[in-house]
Amino acid sequence: MHDRAGLIDLAARLPKAELHLHLEGTLEPEMLLRLAERNGVAIPYSSAQEARRAYDFGNLQDFLDLYYAGASVLLTREDFAELTAAYLRRAAADGVVHVEPFFDPQTHTSRGVAFETALGGIVDALRAGERELGISWRLIMCFLRDLPADDAMATLEEALPHREVITAVGLDSAEVGHPPEKFAAVFERALAEGFLAVAHAGEEGTADDVRRTLDVLGVSRIDHGVRALDDPALVARLVAERVPLTVCPLSNVRLRVVDTAARHNLRRMLEAGIVATVNSDDPAYFGGYLLDNFAAVIEALDLTEEHVVALARNSIEASFLAEEARAAHLAAIDELAGSRAPVRR
Ligand code: HPA
Ligand code: ZN
Repeated sequence: MHDRAGLIDLAARLPKAELHLHLEGTLEPEMLLRLAERNGVAIPYSSAQEARRAYDFGNLQDFLDLYYAGASVLLTREDFAELTAAYLRRAAADGVVHVEPFFDPQTHTSRGVAFETALGGIVDALRAGERELGISWRLIMCFLRDLPADDAMATLEEALPHREVITAVGLDSAEVGHPPEKFAAVFERALAEGFLAVAHAGEEGTADDVRRTLDVLGVSRIDHGVRALDDPALVARLVAERVPLTVCPLSNVRLRVVDTAARHNLRRMLEAGIVATVNSDDPAYFGGYLLDNFAAVIEALDLTEEHVVALARNSIEASFLAEEARAAHLAAIDELAGSRAPVRR
């Protein structure tokens, strides 16, 4: 048995994968100010405290406006490498052994930053992180769903020469008014070109958006998906097909997807048998990295050791790692957990 501090300590020690993390969302105010100065980019803050005070969001769009403005300080390959390296150091400190981060190429190419500049810096840091911190990785390129589908298709074509380092495509930004059907042809082409696919759904949207994202886009996982629990038939499908949900508790609280952490449905997801995982989404904006998210749900939802172990196991199962690496991480989790007890149903 563990008390809460013991459970947070267990969560820290268990090998974990982080599967829902926007690299642009790891831009801490201190780095924002430093890169703005270095690159001569004007920003509306004169101190990190001032920037942090501005990070008060009423909804997803309020956040996205600040997030895209913040990304404007990222100009050089080195900037992208520094951003990614700082995230990997934080992840390593939280016991993360594998990452599948997102980047949003259109946020950068639309400002005149070359696709290869952003990608090159990110991959430089991911490779260094694998060597120096032992963190394995798969990279996911997200399309901005509030931009036209033609722009996403052009971005997909830019990615074709980089299939060795980009494993999957994703879909993020404003969900309402931009249904999965808008990107059906882009995702069909991406899958035909050998990419895997994930997509944000059921954050601002509904359970029906989650269902149609599965049907129309051919995704392997759903990012967020918290609204899926509104529909029992969809829950049964997620359980039967073992479709993972990459849940981001602190993000959901900060963007008012849920009223409070205590009202989050993550525990219900686990007890329904859904392959739910915990992730940090945009940690520089939402008040915490992976272990902060674990601590928040352990406390607010009174999670047990079984839940915490299930979350670590789910993160490995839901990853795009090859079978051998998955088996090794799962064995390490079982050894640390000292039991194979599944979540009681
Ligand atoms: N939702 C949609 N788009 C995003 C998010 C998110 O939580 N974070 C960064 N882009
Ligand atoms: Zn996200």
